[in-house]
Amino acid sequence: MDKIKIGIPGLDEILKGGVRSDASILFTGPPGSGKSIAAFQFVYYGAKQGMPGLYITSEENAFSLRAHMAELGFPLDSLETKGLVTIAEQSVTSGKMISIEAPIKLIKSKKIKRVVMDSLTLFEFVYGDSVNEFRKGIISFIKQMKEAGVTLVVTSERYTAEMDQFKYRSEDFLFDGLIILSKIRKGSSFERILNVSKLRGQDHLIDIFPFQIAKGGIKVFPKQLPFSLIEQDIVKRSKK
Ligand SMILES: Nc1ncnc2c1ncn2[C@@H]1O[C@H](COP(=O)(O)OP(=O)(O)OP(=O)(O)O)[C@@H](O)[C@H]1O
Ligand SMILES: [Mg+2]
Repeated sequence: MDKIKIGIPGLDEILKGGVRSDASILFTGPPGSGKSIAAFQFVYYGAKQGMPGLYITSEENAFSLRAHMAELGFPLDSLETKGLVTIAEQSVTSGKMISIEAPIKLIKSKKIKRVVMDSLTLFEFVYGDSVNEFRKGIISFIKQMKEAGVTLVVTSERYTAEMDQFKYRSEDFLFDGLIILSKIRKGSSFERILNVSKLRGQDHLIDIFPFQIAKGGIKVFPKQLPFSLIEQDIVKRSKK
């Protein structure tokens, strides 16, 4: 199987080498869980390997995204001028969904290989309360990205991302892969955790792994277990 690396240290090991080049992956989690950073690292890693990427942002504007990512050690500088990274702002307040033709045109003209949609909220704004229309919109977007031959990473918000009470949403079923980012309380602080919930048609590790966000971005520790979860289980068992 032809796999490509996502480019997040530790994650490709959990994915046993990466994902199919036409895969659609959803990163989901609560606010500040690292969704945008993960998605950005995917595009940045590709760009560094000479694969042009498109980052569609509806959450942060391009200016602050560039600044935040540079702070983490991912300066865009020449990558943008060389056409290896393209940031497209899509304001949700404009009331209009980006026409599907716009990214497709960019993908063709710039030979884009990796596309990020940050975040899925954009589709919610466009399709309002109609769950069917929302799902149809996503299905069509994923299909067009597959046909365009790109790897797709999308982010989505989640209010409850506790592993024991995880609430799946209808859109989770539409993507090839679902990766949950969350955090659990560890004493008076928190520990960040990641779980590959599904990945159609390929083997992957299903454990919950700790990760960090620091200079250099997200780093997952595929050889460690989240101590806070183990501690919680011990406490729960001792109370029984
Ligand atoms: N330079 C940095 N050094 C260390 N940690 C950082 C740095 N920049 C951001 N972070 C951490 O990453 C978090 C933000 O990550 P990110 O923007 O990817 O979250 P998100 O899941 O996309 O959130 P939202 O749903 O609000 O968009 C911050 O809350 C902070 O904890
Ligand atoms: Mg974000």
